[in-house]
Amino acid sequence: MTSNHNFQQTSKRRGEMIAVCSAKGGIGRTTLTVNLAVALFKKNISISILDGDFQFGDIGLAMDLQSTFTIKDVVEEIDRLDEFSLASFLCNHESGVKVLQAPERPEFAELVTDEKLSKILDLLLMQQDYVVVDTGVGLQERTLNIVEKADQILVVTNLEMAALKNTKLLLETLDILGFRDKVRIVINRATMESVIKAGDVPDILGEAEPIYIPNDFQIASQALNIGIPFVINQGKSELAKSVFKMAEQLTTRREISMIRSAKPSIISKLFNRKRLREETVE
Ligand SMILES: Nc1ncnc2c1ncn2[C@@H]1O[C@H](COP(=O)(O)OP(=O)(O)OP(=O)(O)O)[C@@H](O)[C@H]1O
Ligand SMILES: [Mg+2]
Repeated sequence: MTSNHNFQQTSKRRGEMIAVCSAKGGIGRTTLTVNLAVALFKKNISISILDGDFQFGDIGLAMDLQSTFTIKDVVEEIDRLDEFSLASFLCNHESGVKVLQAPERPEFAELVTDEKLSKILDLLLMQQDYVVVDTGVGLQERTLNIVEKADQILVVTNLEMAALKNTKLLLETLDILGFRDKVRIVINRATMESVIKAGDVPDILGEAEPIYIPNDFQIASQALNIGIPFVINQGKSELAKSVFKMAEQLTTRREISMIRSAKPSIISKLFNRKRLREETVE
């Protein structure tokens, strides 16, 4: 259970879901998912990752996870599943982040039907402040269900022409589906050498305030290869700092609204006290 977080826990409270998507593969979805999740946990936020790349998920590799439980095991238990039994299938990463891994073989992906996925996500959201989902590439059917359920959709791109072209198409599709308001664009490798500059992207994609993540192939690829998210052991790097900043940006709105609903303001406390006195006098 989640004991050490700032948010007030109520038994049926729904956590917030962040879907990490991209129009192209190899763009940094997994890198950003694992590092964002650990950065959120460092803010005392309880968090699970769902590896939603059901065919070729590589969160387990990116976090050097030892557990062999995957979403396939959960799907097999789906009729008896509740939030407590689901917890036993989550892999506990040493950072504190919990992970529900993708199946070990691509052909098992189709066992994760929409209905089952929906139940699993609901149960995860019942337990956690945040659930971050690394989706497959593009908008396959399963990913559509994930983005529909998500509170925030991170669309990751880089500065390459093909990535931007496809990202624009992805954004148009999300717009048609009515999800555009939930989208935050993340420009990964924003400082890479490129004909298109990061500063041109807001105009190209029609997004005034994208999130910028710098280019650092050495740190990013080493982190993936050794399975240690760089926010853990390279916390002072510009790359890690940009992910901490992203975690801050993504949570600020929610923290404010939760604090507002959890704690009455000083003015309302005073007002209530005055009213209580008046009622006692009457
Ligand atoms: N900010 C960055 N700077 C430099 N290299 C990066 C950065 N982010 C990711 N990379 C590199 O890009 C490659 C792809 O990253 P990653 O596996 O996270 O992408 P992905 O979108 O999950 O790919 P796939 O579609 O295969 O699942 C890796 O070699 C990684 O090290
Ligand atoms: Mg990946």
